[in-house]
Amino acid sequence: MSPETPAGAATAASAPWSIRLRDAVVRYPNGVVGLKKISLDIEAGEMVSIVGLSGSGKSSLIRTINGLVPLSSGTLEVGGHRMDLARGRELRRLRGQIGMIFQGFNLAGRTTVLNNVLVGRLAHTSVPRTLVGAYRQRDRQLAFEALDRVGMLERVYHRAAHLSGGQQQRVAIARALAQEPGIVLADEPVASLDPPTAHAVMGDLRRINRELGITVLVNLHLLDLARGYGTRLIGLRAGEIVYDGPAATATDADFERIYGRPIGDQDLLGGTTAGSVQGGDQDLLGGQSAAPAGTPA
Ligand SMILES: Nc1ncnc2c1ncn2[C@@H]1O[C@H](COP(=O)(O)OP(=O)(O)OP(=O)(O)O)[C@@H](O)[C@H]1O
Ligand SMILES: [Mg+2]
Repeated sequence: MSPETPAGAATAASAPWSIRLRDAVVRYPNGVVGLKKISLDIEAGEMVSIVGLSGSGKSSLIRTINGLVPLSSGTLEVGGHRMDLARGRELRRLRGQIGMIFQGFNLAGRTTVLNNVLVGRLAHTSVPRTLVGAYRQRDRQLAFEALDRVGMLERVYHRAAHLSGGQQQRVAIARALAQEPGIVLADEPVASLDPPTAHAVMGDLRRINRELGITVLVNLHLLDLARGYGTRLIGLRAGEIVYDGPAATATDADFERIYGRPIGDQDLLGGTTAGSVQGGDQDLLGGQSAAPAGTPA
């Protein structure tokens, strides 16, 4: 982004990235196959829900796209760059453009919200600056804007450990945004949250996809969330893609095929907030949560 870019647009500096996997195989050192020859094209700006039973390969897919798990064979391109061939500084540069959100938030609890979000700037900050904690004014501006985008600006100097789970996950989203990512990957981001908070966090992810155009992939095991927030649904079973189509029109029968069993209450979050699952725009108010007023987040 050029220095004259107006404030407010700063967290959308990177162009969104596409993802291309060709015949991608992940075989772990113990011989277990996490991904079996997957070929997949995700276009820049898509919002993809990835579903499947435990052990179907959802985390393997996300970790592969982030370069955390190497391909055993096949190819991986992110944003037009060959991630599978990248090493050292180039690999770190590519990974710096990919924001990660985890089920357990992965914040440093003893330090402030602001410092946690500034960690997202590390990939763009020189080592000597990082060592002295000398973040540039622009890094701080990006961190503040990212926190504003998820409605967490007023907690900027709070300790991360003092926040609720939903608030911590929003800070984690802000940290990812501060990277100015081309892709955000979320691995079961709401699995530890109560239903209203889960909807609020999913609403935030949808908002950064819609407003900033960032490509978002979310691993989920609850079909109402997968159907309600993704525009595209990918179903994994035993390391293979067994469903790929629009999320909104995926039927219960499609989910039963992906899961290989009848679906039940355990596959639904429930507690939907009006507008959030039906695709309403209640969560598009910039930093406002999709949860009903008064809901702890
Ligand atoms: N580091 C690893 N070493 C060996 N095997 C692994 C490793 N990580 C995952 N696996 C195996 O790869 C397969 C896919 O696992 P993965 O974690 O991708 O599934 P998942 O869909 O994310 O499951 P869950 O819903 O439980 O998180 C499983 O058989 C798992 O045991
Ligand atoms: Mg997993």
